[in-house]
Amino acid sequence: MRSVIDIMDLSVEEIDGLLSTAEDIIANPKKYAKVCEGKKLATLFFEPSTRTRLSFEAAMYELGGNVIGFSDANSSSSSKGESVADTARVISCYADIIAMRHPKEGAPFVASLNASIPVINAGDGGHNHPTQTLADLLTIKREKGRFDNLTVGLCGDLKFGRTVHSLINALSRYSGIKFVMISPDELRIPDYVKQNVLIPNGIEFSEEKSLEEAMPKLDILYMTRVQKERFFNEADYIRLKDTYILTPEKLENAKEDLCILHPLPRVNEISVAVDNDKRACYFKQVLNGKYMRMALILKLLEVEI
Ligand code: CP
Repeated sequence: MRSVIDIMDLSVEEIDGLLSTAEDIIANPKKYAKVCEGKKLATLFFEPSTRTRLSFEAAMYELGGNVIGFSDANSSSSSKGESVADTARVISCYADIIAMRHPKEGAPFVASLNASIPVINAGDGGHNHPTQTLADLLTIKREKGRFDNLTVGLCGDLKFGRTVHSLINALSRYSGIKFVMISPDELRIPDYVKQNVLIPNGIEFSEEKSLEEAMPKLDILYMTRVQKERFFNEADYIRLKDTYILTPEKLENAKEDLCILHPLPRVNEISVAVDNDKRACYFKQVLNGKYMRMALILKLLEVEI
């Protein structure tokens, strides 16, 4: 029984396998339409979500399985004080696999220690979001055709943005990756990411403030939302929330084959005027997330095709 709590729980070879499965699902959806018949996915969302929860649910339905779960902690017995550990034990009696989102870092890991079925981390606090990274990787593969030798700009809230932390981990295993980290001082990438991932792996990185100055060198631009829900002080959020807004004018010096990503939801970080630019890939990224979650469910349930 295998859980995925961190993107690093999956080897590069396993990620390659998931990417191949996702591309086969895209090419041959009917082949997969009944492979999870009789299986149940439990979506335990203690924090709001649109994409992650609904794409997990769509993924399981498109595999022929069923879904149970809750989308609000207040409608579960956690509101009466039930622990994550007990919740995981209970859900193991009803389902075959769990996707859990929780505001507390480490909660899905605790669930995985107590469940007798696989647990997938669907986002834990400001920590990790491995299935968003799988969506990001499939999008990069389909748009750029490679993971090596890319200059990746990460822009916005690099402190609390869990998708950025997971993506840095994942891309650090490929060669020739450079990161350009663009943020205000208050939202810089945490030191532990530099000390544990970037420096030991010899990854080239710079920390910059100007999106316009960084733009010409980027192959990928990963925009992020300032994470209002992680701020202790609303005044700080209001001061920082619109630091970076991507507009068509700011793309004038960008590469013709730039790939613009955003895990979404977007607030103001990308003007809607950018949506029609052929370099805007964030809605393709949403769809790719469903295919990668289908591939991951199949892998963790050990479904033979
Ligand atoms: N990208 C992402 O995690 O979106 P949701 O919060 O809507 O699930």
